[in-house]
Amino acid sequence: MPTFHPDVLHSFVTQVCEAMGSQSVEANLVADQLVGANLAGHDSHGVGMLPAYVGMKEFGSLQINQHVSTVIDTGGVVVLDGNSGFGQVNGKEAMDIAVERARANGVALVGLRNSFHIGRIGHWAEQCVAAGLASIHFVNVAGHSALVAPYGGADARFATNPFCVAVPATDGQPAALLDMATSKIAMGKARVAKNKGVPVPDGTLIDGEGRVTTDPRGMFEDPRQGALIAMGDHKGSGLAIMCELVGAALIGGPTLRGQDRPPTIINNMLTIAIDPAALGGADGLATEFDAYLDWVRASPVREGFDEVLMPGEPEQRARLARAEGIEVDDTTHQELLAAAAQAGRPDLKL
Ligand SMILES: NC(=O)c1ccc[n+]([C@@H]2O[C@H](COP(=O)([O-])OP(=O)(O)OC[C@H]3O[C@@H](n4cnc5c(N)ncnc54)[C@H](O)[C@@H]3O)[C@@H](O)[C@H]2O)c1
Repeated sequence: MPTFHPDVLHSFVTQVCEAMGSQSVEANLVADQLVGANLAGHDSHGVGMLPAYVGMKEFGSLQINQHVSTVIDTGGVVVLDGNSGFGQVNGKEAMDIAVERARANGVALVGLRNSFHIGRIGHWAEQCVAAGLASIHFVNVAGHSALVAPYGGADARFATNPFCVAVPATDGQPAALLDMATSKIAMGKARVAKNKGVPVPDGTLIDGEGRVTTDPRGMFEDPRQGALIAMGDHKGSGLAIMCELVGAALIGGPTLRGQDRPPTIINNMLTIAIDPAALGGADGLATEFDAYLDWVRASPVREGFDEVLMPGEPEQRARLARAEGIEVDDTTHQELLAAAAQAGRPDLKL
């Protein structure tokens, strides 16, 4: 599999975005997050998303060089509209506001409606954590057909609705960061499996008849055949539904019900940012986080496992392992070159 230095991928993504019309700041924010997702081990939300971005821009679903606009602002409560602009810009601007308001008020509630794809949600938690804040994010995915079947259901009624929580350590890094799709696997992981020609893990997918399958290809047929299975049975299915209700409907964003808009990837996100200092717990809090996590880690390892990991540790390890090279499968590599050509840069090499 071809392997690329992160800087090479970053430069490629930046140049393709600039060819799409993005100003330099926007192009760099997109590249930062996509390559950052690859570095964190989440190829599903890495540079492999770029061809979809190019296609959606041409289709008119992704608006270039947009910024958030304010819908409601009462100090600690802010609702923003992302105007179908790049989520990498909208997410950063929304978190800038969340950080400022949480520092002023102790807690901030920021709703972001109608953003184009905001990518790996942990990226936004990391922005809050870098400012010393804890954060909670409910997110829905609207604007395309449903992907995930509810518990007991044989067709899809919501998407992979991610949920994320992080708490800060003292060094600007998360003490723990839980960032997960509410489906057993993210859709991008089915795409990576399809591109590599390998099966998805057992129990993660149903076919068009509602039967469990490991073949991801039906998910990419038109019309789509099958659905992802929600994680955690009724509990994960329930959390995905709450992401629709809290992450979208509560802040005035679109749920996935009755979508008739052209294909796009719209995310709505409700963020709660919390300043530990406002709770009187800043002193010694990080020490308690670390001590508690160490105590959990010390659980005797169960048969079939090698170790007990905390949320966020697989991503930290991936960053160390991938710092000097990120593998890109052949299909994704070809799709990236085609995307560059589609954006007007057939000369770009990777
Ligand atoms: N923007 C969107 O529309 C959208 C939609 C869905 C998913 N996503 C993103 O997709 C990414 C991938 O989601 P996912 O659910 O496939 O992630 P995942 O299953 O790889 O990891 C989920 C969480 O579990 C933790 N984890 C993983 N393995 C662990 C282990 N062995 N022990 C302890 N903890 C462990 C990880 O640190 C992470 O916090 C996320 O970054 C998510 O934000 C985005």
